[in-house]
Amino acid sequence: MALEFELQKYSKDIKLKGGKKCKLRPLCKEDEKAFHTFFLAVPESERMFIKHRVTEKQVIRDWCRNIDLGRNLPLLAVMDGKIVGDATLHQQLGGWKRHIGRVSVLVHPKYRGRGLARALVGEIVSIARHLGLEKVEAEFIGEQEAAIKMFALLGFSNLVRMEDYVKDMQAISHDYVLMGLDLKTDEEYAGMG
Ligand SMILES: CC(C)(COP(=O)(O)OP(=O)(O)OC[C@H]1O[C@@H](n2cnc3c(N)ncnc32)[C@H](O)[C@@H]1OP(=O)(O)O)[C@@H](O)C(=O)NCCC(=O)NCCS
Repeated sequence: MALEFELQKYSKDIKLKGGKKCKLRPLCKEDEKAFHTFFLAVPESERMFIKHRVTEKQVIRDWCRNIDLGRNLPLLAVMDGKIVGDATLHQQLGGWKRHIGRVSVLVHPKYRGRGLARALVGEIVSIARHLGLEKVEAEFIGEQEAAIKMFALLGFSNLVRMEDYVKDMQAISHDYVLMGLDLKTDEEYAGMG
Protein backbone atom coordinates (compact mmCIF):
# COMPACT_ATOMS: atom_id res chain seq x y z
CA MET A 1 0.00 0.00 0.00
CA ALA A 2 1.15 3.53 -0.82
CA LEU A 3 0.65 4.78 2.75
CA GLU A 4 2.67 1.95 4.29
CA PHE A 5 5.44 2.64 1.79
CA GLU A 6 5.45 6.34 2.73
CA LEU A 7 5.47 5.58 6.45
CA GLN A 8 8.56 3.41 6.05
CA LYS A 9 10.50 6.63 5.39
CA TYR A 10 10.11 7.60 9.08
CA SER A 11 11.58 8.35 11.45
CA LYS A 12 13.74 10.85 9.63
CA ASP A 13 16.35 13.29 10.98
CA ILE A 14 16.43 16.80 9.59
CA LYS A 15 18.73 19.76 10.30
CA LEU A 16 17.20 23.08 11.28
CA LYS A 17 18.45 26.62 10.83
CA GLY A 18 21.14 27.06 13.49
CA GLY A 19 22.35 23.49 13.00
CA LYS A 20 20.23 21.62 15.57
CA LYS A 21 18.83 18.24 14.59
CA CYS A 22 15.22 17.19 14.87
CA LYS A 23 13.39 13.90 14.34
CA LEU A 24 10.25 13.64 12.21
CA ARG A 25 7.87 10.74 12.82
CA PRO A 26 4.13 9.98 12.86
CA LEU A 27 2.09 10.23 16.08
CA CYS A 28 1.87 7.02 18.13
CA LYS A 29 -0.34 6.03 21.07
CA GLU A 30 2.47 6.60 23.61
CA ASP A 31 2.55 10.32 22.70
CA GLU A 32 -0.55 11.24 24.71
CA LYS A 33 1.21 13.16 27.49
CA ALA A 34 3.85 14.82 25.30
CA PHE A 35 1.26 15.87 22.70
CA HIS A 36 -0.93 17.43 25.37
CA THR A 37 2.08 19.29 26.82
CA PHE A 38 2.86 20.58 23.31
CA PHE A 39 -0.60 22.12 22.95
CA LEU A 40 -0.41 23.68 26.43
CA ALA A 41 2.62 25.67 25.24
CA VAL A 42 0.54 27.45 22.60
CA PRO A 43 -0.59 30.89 23.81
CA GLU A 44 -4.33 31.33 24.39
CA SER A 45 -4.52 34.01 21.67
CA GLU A 46 -3.48 31.39 19.08
CA ARG A 47 -5.27 28.43 20.60
CA MET A 48 -8.57 30.18 19.96
CA PHE A 49 -8.00 29.59 16.25
CA ILE A 50 -7.46 25.83 16.61
CA LYS A 51 -10.55 23.85 15.65
CA HIS A 52 -10.45 21.49 18.64
CA ARG A 53 -10.26 21.96 22.41
CA VAL A 54 -6.66 20.80 22.56
CA THR A 55 -6.04 21.72 26.21
CA GLU A 56 -8.54 19.05 27.25
CA LYS A 57 -6.71 15.80 27.99
CA GLN A 58 -9.64 13.74 26.72
CA VAL A 59 -9.38 15.26 23.23
CA ILE A 60 -5.71 14.30 22.90
CA ARG A 61 -6.36 10.89 24.49
CA ASP A 62 -9.01 10.18 21.83
CA TRP A 63 -6.59 11.15 19.07
CA CYS A 64 -3.80 8.97 20.46
CA ARG A 65 -6.04 5.97 21.10
CA ASN A 66 -7.81 6.08 17.74
CA ILE A 67 -4.95 6.65 15.36
CA ASP A 68 -5.95 6.16 11.72
CA LEU A 69 -3.07 7.48 9.65
CA GLY A 70 -5.02 6.96 6.42
CA ARG A 71 -7.51 9.54 7.63
CA ASN A 72 -5.35 11.85 9.76
CA LEU A 73 -1.60 11.61 9.55
CA PRO A 74 0.05 13.79 12.23
CA LEU A 75 3.75 14.11 11.46
CA LEU A 76 5.57 15.22 14.61
CA ALA A 77 8.86 17.04 15.03
CA VAL A 78 10.66 15.77 18.14
CA MET A 79 13.66 17.46 19.76
CA ASP A 80 15.29 16.45 23.05
CA GLY A 81 12.39 14.05 23.67
CA LYS A 82 9.86 16.90 23.34
CA ILE A 83 7.21 17.39 20.65
CA VAL A 84 7.99 20.77 19.08
CA GLY A 85 5.91 20.72 15.91
CA ASP A 86 3.09 18.95 14.13
CA ALA A 87 1.81 18.98 10.56
CA THR A 88 -1.18 16.79 9.81
CA LEU A 89 -2.50 15.47 6.51
CA HIS A 90 -6.28 15.06 6.69
CA GLN A 91 -8.00 12.91 4.07
CA GLN A 92 -11.68 12.45 3.29
CA LEU A 93 -11.47 8.90 1.84
CA GLY A 94 -14.58 9.31 -0.27
CA GLY A 95 -16.95 11.98 -1.51
CA TRP A 96 -16.27 15.13 -3.48
CA LYS A 97 -13.02 15.90 -1.76
CA ARG A 98 -11.42 12.46 -1.91
CA HIS A 99 -8.66 13.77 -4.20
CA ILE A 100 -7.84 16.71 -1.91
CA GLY A 101 -5.70 16.47 1.22
CA ARG A 102 -5.90 19.15 3.90
CA VAL A 103 -2.80 20.20 5.76
CA SER A 104 -2.61 21.92 9.12
CA VAL A 105 0.55 22.92 11.00
CA LEU A 106 1.55 24.13 14.44
CA VAL A 107 5.04 24.83 15.79
CA HIS A 108 5.93 25.25 19.49
CA PRO A 109 6.41 29.02 20.08
CA LYS A 110 9.99 28.54 21.35
CA TYR A 111 11.02 26.61 18.24
CA ARG A 112 9.75 28.97 15.55
CA GLY A 113 11.85 30.69 12.91
CA ARG A 114 14.12 27.67 12.39
CA GLY A 115 12.46 26.27 9.29
CA LEU A 116 10.44 23.66 11.17
CA ALA A 117 7.05 24.45 9.61
CA ARG A 118 8.60 24.68 6.18
CA ALA A 119 10.15 21.22 6.62
CA LEU A 120 6.99 19.64 8.08
CA VAL A 121 4.66 21.01 5.42
CA GLY A 122 7.17 20.04 2.72
CA GLU A 123 7.10 16.45 4.01
CA ILE A 124 3.29 16.38 4.13
CA VAL A 125 3.03 17.71 0.57
CA SER A 126 5.48 15.05 -0.59
CA ILE A 127 3.47 12.31 1.17
CA ALA A 128 0.23 13.65 -0.37
CA ARG A 129 1.79 13.57 -3.82
CA HIS A 130 3.04 10.00 -3.38
CA LEU A 131 -0.39 8.90 -2.14
CA GLY A 132 -1.85 10.09 -5.45
CA LEU A 133 -3.76 13.07 -4.09
CA GLU A 134 -4.30 15.75 -6.73
CA LYS A 135 -4.46 18.82 -4.51
CA VAL A 136 -3.70 19.93 -0.99
CA GLU A 137 -5.50 22.74 0.77
CA ALA A 138 -5.05 24.64 4.03
CA GLU A 139 -7.60 26.65 6.01
CA PHE A 140 -6.89 29.78 8.03
CA ILE A 141 -8.46 32.45 10.12
CA GLY A 142 -7.75 35.80 8.40
CA GLU A 143 -5.44 36.93 11.23
CA GLN A 144 -3.04 33.97 10.82
CA GLU A 145 -0.82 36.14 8.64
CA ALA A 146 2.48 34.38 9.39
CA ALA A 147 1.02 31.05 8.36
CA ILE A 148 -0.61 32.48 5.23
CA LYS A 149 2.72 34.03 4.23
CA MET A 150 4.54 30.77 4.85
CA PHE A 151 2.13 28.70 2.78
CA ALA A 152 2.43 31.23 -0.05
CA LEU A 153 6.22 30.78 0.08
CA LEU A 154 5.66 27.03 -0.30
CA GLY A 155 3.65 27.57 -3.49
CA PHE A 156 0.10 27.63 -2.12
CA SER A 157 -2.19 30.25 -3.62
CA ASN A 158 -5.22 32.00 -2.16
CA LEU A 159 -8.41 30.27 -3.31
CA VAL A 160 -11.01 32.18 -1.35
CA ARG A 161 -11.38 34.71 1.43
CA MET A 162 -14.81 35.02 3.02
CA GLU A 163 -15.47 37.90 5.35
CA ASP A 164 -16.59 37.12 8.92
CA TYR A 165 -17.42 33.56 7.91
CA VAL A 166 -16.07 31.47 10.83
CA LYS A 167 -16.15 31.77 14.60
CA ASP A 168 -13.26 31.11 16.97
CA MET A 169 -13.53 29.23 20.27
CA GLN A 170 -14.82 32.42 21.90
CA ALA A 171 -17.54 32.81 19.25
CA ILE A 172 -15.91 35.88 17.66
CA SER A 173 -16.29 36.05 13.88
CA HIS A 174 -13.26 36.12 11.60
CA ASP A 175 -12.47 35.99 7.91
CA TYR A 176 -11.99 32.48 6.48
CA VAL A 177 -9.09 31.91 4.09
CA LEU A 178 -8.62 28.82 1.93
CA MET A 179 -5.30 28.23 0.18
CA GLY A 180 -4.44 25.41 -2.20
CA LEU A 181 -1.68 23.75 -4.14
CA ASP A 182 -2.20 21.74 -7.31
CA LEU A 183 -0.03 18.63 -7.10
CA LYS A 184 -0.76 17.44 -10.63
CA THR A 185 0.50 20.64 -12.21
CA ASP A 186 3.68 20.35 -10.16
CA GLU A 187 4.17 16.79 -11.32
CA GLU A 188 3.78 17.79 -14.97
CA TYR A 189 6.44 20.45 -14.49
CA ALA A 190 8.69 17.93 -12.77
CA GLY A 191 8.27 15.58 -15.72
CA MET A 192 9.35 18.32 -18.13
CA GLY A 193 12.61 18.96 -16.32
C1 LIG B 1 3.01 29.71 11.10
C2 LIG B 1 3.96 28.77 11.82
C3 LIG B 1 3.50 27.35 11.56
C4 LIG B 1 5.39 29.00 11.29
O1 LIG B 1 6.28 28.07 11.92
P1 LIG B 1 7.89 28.24 11.85
O2 LIG B 1 8.50 26.91 12.14
O3 LIG B 1 8.31 29.38 12.66
O4 LIG B 1 8.09 28.59 10.29
P2 LIG B 1 9.45 28.46 9.46
O5 LIG B 1 10.61 28.78 10.34
O6 LIG B 1 9.47 27.15 8.76
O7 LIG B 1 9.25 29.63 8.42
C5 LIG B 1 8.98 29.41 7.05
C6 LIG B 1 8.80 30.74 6.34
O8 LIG B 1 7.61 31.38 6.78
C7 LIG B 1 7.82 32.76 7.06
N1 LIG B 1 7.37 33.06 8.42
C8 LIG B 1 7.29 32.21 9.46
N2 LIG B 1 6.85 32.85 10.56
C9 LIG B 1 6.66 34.14 10.18
C10 LIG B 1 6.21 35.32 10.88
N3 LIG B 1 5.86 35.28 12.18
N4 LIG B 1 6.12 36.47 10.19
C11 LIG B 1 6.47 36.51 8.89
N5 LIG B 1 6.91 35.45 8.19
C12 LIG B 1 7.00 34.29 8.83
C13 LIG B 1 9.29 33.03 6.97
O9 LIG B 1 9.48 33.98 5.94
C14 LIG B 1 9.95 31.71 6.61
O10 LIG B 1 10.65 31.85 5.40
P3 LIG B 1 12.25 31.75 5.36
O11 LIG B 1 12.54 30.30 5.71
O12 LIG B 1 12.57 32.11 3.97
O13 LIG B 1 12.75 32.67 6.40
C15 LIG B 1 3.96 29.04 13.35
O14 LIG B 1 4.14 30.41 13.57
C16 LIG B 1 2.69 28.58 14.05
O15 LIG B 1 2.64 27.45 14.54
N6 LIG B 1 1.66 29.46 14.11
C17 LIG B 1 0.39 29.15 14.76
C18 LIG B 1 -0.40 28.07 14.04
C19 LIG B 1 -0.89 28.46 12.68
O16 LIG B 1 -1.14 29.61 12.37
N7 LIG B 1 -1.06 27.42 11.85
C20 LIG B 1 -1.58 27.57 10.52
C21 LIG B 1 -2.96 27.02 10.37
S1 LIG B 1 -2.92 25.64 9.30
